[in-house]
Amino acid sequence: MDAILVKGGGPLSGEIPIAGAKNACLTLMPATLLSEEPLTLTNAPRLSDIRTMTQLLQSLGAEITTLQEGRVISMSSHGTINTRAEYDIVRKMRASNLVLGPLLAREGYAEVSLPGGCAIGARPMDIHTDGLAKMGAEIELREGYLYAKAAGGRLKGAVIDFPFASVGATENIMMAATLAKGTTVINNAAREPEIVDLASCLRRMGAQIEGDGTSRITIQGVDRLGAATHPVVADRIELGTYMLAPAICGGEVELLGGRLDLVGAFCEKLDAAGIDVTQTDKGLRVKRRNDRVQAVNVTTEPFPGFPTDLQAQMMALMCTAEGTSVLEERIFENRFMHAPELMRMGAKIEVSGGTATVKGVKRLRGAPVMATDLRASVSLILAGLAAEGDTLVSRVYHLDRGYERVEEKLRACGAQIERVAGE
Ligand code: UD1
Repeated sequence: MDAILVKGGGPLSGEIPIAGAKNACLTLMPATLLSEEPLTLTNAPRLSDIRTMTQLLQSLGAEITTLQEGRVISMSSHGTINTRAEYDIVRKMRASNLVLGPLLAREGYAEVSLPGGCAIGARPMDIHTDGLAKMGAEIELREGYLYAKAAGGRLKGAVIDFPFASVGATENIMMAATLAKGTTVINNAAREPEIVDLASCLRRMGAQIEGDGTSRITIQGVDRLGAATHPVVADRIELGTYMLAPAICGGEVELLGGRLDLVGAFCEKLDAAGIDVTQTDKGLRVKRRNDRVQAVNVTTEPFPGFPTDLQAQMMALMCTAEGTSVLEERIFENRFMHAPELMRMGAKIEVSGGTATVKGVKRLRGAPVMATDLRASVSLILAGLAAEGDTLVSRVYHLDRGYERVEEKLRACGAQIERVAGE
């Protein structure tokens, strides 16, 4: 199993290209099931999660080819579609549940394995299934699978009030509603940029959707969707992660393709911590104002709030900030597994329930650490860049799910980082 060796050191300087968003691509790909005509995605990220989604869609009967080394994904679901998403693939990645809405909309029937828990929390699917039930689906749980059947063979429009602005449920219901009979309204919908991206792709395919990006989305069902080509939006989490590299190590880095509107709440916190972010023609340029950053408090919230997917990386920055910061995790119940690993590097962190208190220290020290989930693993790499000595991050398969060529991108800015064979 691979590991990543990071030698802590000096400031970084250079450019890092930002890829298409993993989370957008994972919801755009199942949209192929909604149409008999081809759907082509450009600016796709090259990640193991994308390969898992490819396998899942192929197992359902989609034909998928990739071009330009995976940057372009060409999909066609013109043939017979298999309606069963097997546990063997679904368990690898929770986003597999995004085939439920499209399968049900197209075939009137779906059998989708429940994904099971993951390291960061239980993550149930009740908001998805309650919404689909309102649209006329009868859903039963048997032997770990959701068996969903649209009454009368076709879903019908409904007004759905979400108890929480779930990203995945908004995406599933939005896709299901494009082919339903009548109008669907989602109240308290999630507003993430990935949802706006999905809506814009579905519109290119012929769907009638309004209000994406607000908490009320209206979808007028149509009889069929057509072909489309759609560029995947930039990955705001990859962007935010690399913005933290010069923040934590010093220097100046330009994030190519970065956009301020994707990382508003995050940039406000960076500004308060003493980091300058400037929009340029090419992207975002990041530089810290002083040698040491200031402690800031962070609470994770649905978009446009501070993203939970940047909480671990922000904690890495706060470990060496001047003062004490309080990080409150409000989206997932168990998302501080990086804290004990950072403490192995000399960080002073106390976790109590959903709150972590971080007392900044002058310097972290390199140590062998273990990646526990995707964002936690990259937070350890960031910490390693700023630490004195070597940090060996093992179990990096988590990292490969969501970051493409992390070591190459950081090395191009002068970081000493390499992939090594681990145990
Ligand atoms: C998506 C992102 C993930 C990000 C998260 C929150 C993808 C592939 N993943 O995950 O990276 O961290 O948004 O921004 O896009 N919940 C329920 N019942 C449900 C659905 C969700 O209780 O039916 C709870 C979850 O357990 C969790 C919270 O709601 O505590 C947020 O989940 P949700 O917004 O649905 O996140 P995902 O779509 O799974």
